[in-house]
Amino acid sequence: MTLEKHPARTGGEVLLRGVEITRRWGGLVAVDKVSVELRRGTVHAVIGTNGAGKSTLINMLSGEFPPSSGKVELMGIDVTAWPQARRARAGLGRSYQRNTIYPSFTVFENCRLAAQADAQKPWHFWQRADRCEASVTAARKAASRAGLDRVLDRQAGLLSHGQKRQLEIAMCLATGPQVLLLDEPLAGMGAEETERMLLLLDELRSGHAILLVEHDMDAVFRIADTITVMVNGCKIASGDPEFIRNSPEVRTAYLGEGH
Ligand SMILES: Nc1ncnc2c1ncn2[C@@H]1O[C@H](COP(=O)(O)OP(=O)(O)O)[C@@H](O)[C@H]1O
Ligand SMILES: [Mg+2]
Repeated sequence: MTLEKHPARTGGEVLLRGVEITRRWGGLVAVDKVSVELRRGTVHAVIGTNGAGKSTLINMLSGEFPPSSGKVELMGIDVTAWPQARRARAGLGRSYQRNTIYPSFTVFENCRLAAQADAQKPWHFWQRADRCEASVTAARKAASRAGLDRVLDRQAGLLSHGQKRQLEIAMCLATGPQVLLLDEPLAGMGAEETERMLLLLDELRSGHAILLVEHDMDAVFRIADTITVMVNGCKIASGDPEFIRNSPEVRTAYLGEGH
């Protein structure tokens, strides 16, 4: 695959914003006053060594747990006190570092369950009769978008590793999110699966704001419009791939030679 070499995208409006968010675990500051902006139409990668605070950052943005201090805004609204389910209904989708699919259900059923969870919106009560049909449509569309058309009826537990990660993205898409928070979607993938996933992320970029936590630096530098570098809970740099590639601080702290 050749992802087009594009001039740095500035993207559309800011959909999700973390403002100086901090998380302490006892004496440990896992994330230290990190600010981050996700714009529609862009992929924002967060990189850093193990334990840098990347998953903790995603968890605070998604509402898994609240920040110790700082603020999270979703489409301009302060959602810092909102639990994850409420943020999800408002358009925030996420995938986890570990698989979260139901292995004994089919691909389609997994997607439909995700879509149904989204259909529990209070203003949908009058649509009860249509709800089921709407979920079926959303599930099919999401599975198709994630490239799972041919395995719709397969038990999720029997999918290849790469397909399981695609399914997680499909389940995310079934909820109709505007923002996607993806924690290491390429982990454990072979070269071919990685290419497929990168193509999918490239497609999903338009219309969504995507935050991508990823260790595969080649992938990150190919797909990201913006890269934020974390070291020991702190943001040490943020900018377009060229800027990050040429930053002496980033090279010293994280990238090493070769990038
Ligand atoms: N639930 C928790 N309780 C205590 N410490 C935690 C918890 N989750 C993460 N940490 C610590 O916070 C730091 C950042 O972890 P994490 O966000 O998982 O890093 P990354 O995803 O960048 O590898 C690590 O030192 C980790 O041990
Ligand atoms: Mg992590």
